[in-house]
Amino acid sequence: MENGSANELKDNEPTQNNDHQPTSDTSSTTEENVQTDSICSYNDAKKYWSNVSPTVDGMLGGFGAISFIDIRGSEQFLKHLYKLKPAPGRKRALDCGAGIGRITKNLLVPFFEQVDLVEQDEQFCQTARAELADCGPKLGTIFNAGLQDFTPEQGRYDIIWVQWVLGHLTDQDAVQFFIRCTKGLARGGMMVIKENFTSSNIVDVDRQDSSVTRPLAVMKQLLKEGNMRVVKEQRQTSFPKDLYPVYMLALRPIIKN
Ligand SMILES: C[S@@+](CC[C@H](N)C(=O)[O-])C[C@H]1O[C@@H](n2cnc3c(N)ncnc32)[C@H](O)[C@@H]1O
Repeated sequence: MENGSANELKDNEPTQNNDHQPTSDTSSTTEENVQTDSICSYNDAKKYWSNVSPTVDGMLGGFGAISFIDIRGSEQFLKHLYKLKPAPGRKRALDCGAGIGRITKNLLVPFFEQVDLVEQDEQFCQTARAELADCGPKLGTIFNAGLQDFTPEQGRYDIIWVQWVLGHLTDQDAVQFFIRCTKGLARGGMMVIKENFTSSNIVDVDRQDSSVTRPLAVMKQLLKEGNMRVVKEQRQTSFPKDLYPVYMLALRPIIKN
């Protein structure tokens, strides 16, 4: 995870330029009045990810070791959602910005009858297909697309899981994506986002991979504009202390009268 995606996990001091990437010389900056459409270039991000190895360590910016804790935290969060009324179904989930299928394999496949994935990098899609070959009919469709261009089929998903990818979307595209997701949810369905957030109230910019890390309040505003309301919120615990705070938010569509 980077600053804002999952590629670089480390938190920033609000006014410094820091090297974040444990294995490279990425620098991320804290900037005021960030216009995400001038930072989040889909082509540059595509180039960046095409040079990342299709491994768990590659997906997590060298922090592969936290994958187990991450999945365990997600599992507990997901289980809580089934205590809410109406509880989501357990038929179909969608893994967004799925990478090589780390979350599908370890979290979603054990929970749902079928899981679809959407991922912009073709090589990651191929690796996901190989990694998930044992899942049989539980593996649904792997869509090779950017979230900014992807429309989930109407009413299809009980859970839409979006993790360590929203930092790549411009504010405007994130809002439009959320609106499309409200329509892609089945009755009782929820979207879950799990992302890095800045501990300041300022957006961090990572020019190396064309992503941003937003404050939680900024994300909540985008979700509201995207017609989603927060029904449960929880911070991931037990991650190394110098990483960005990671929050899980469960969301339902706002029903307008
Ligand atoms: C940090 S990795 C996280 C992968 C996965 N969510 C996980 O946690 O293991 C970010 C993923 O988002 C993908 N990605 C980046 N921009 C995207 C976009 N606009 N639409 C869909 N996927 C994107 C990258 O190719 C990469 O696979």
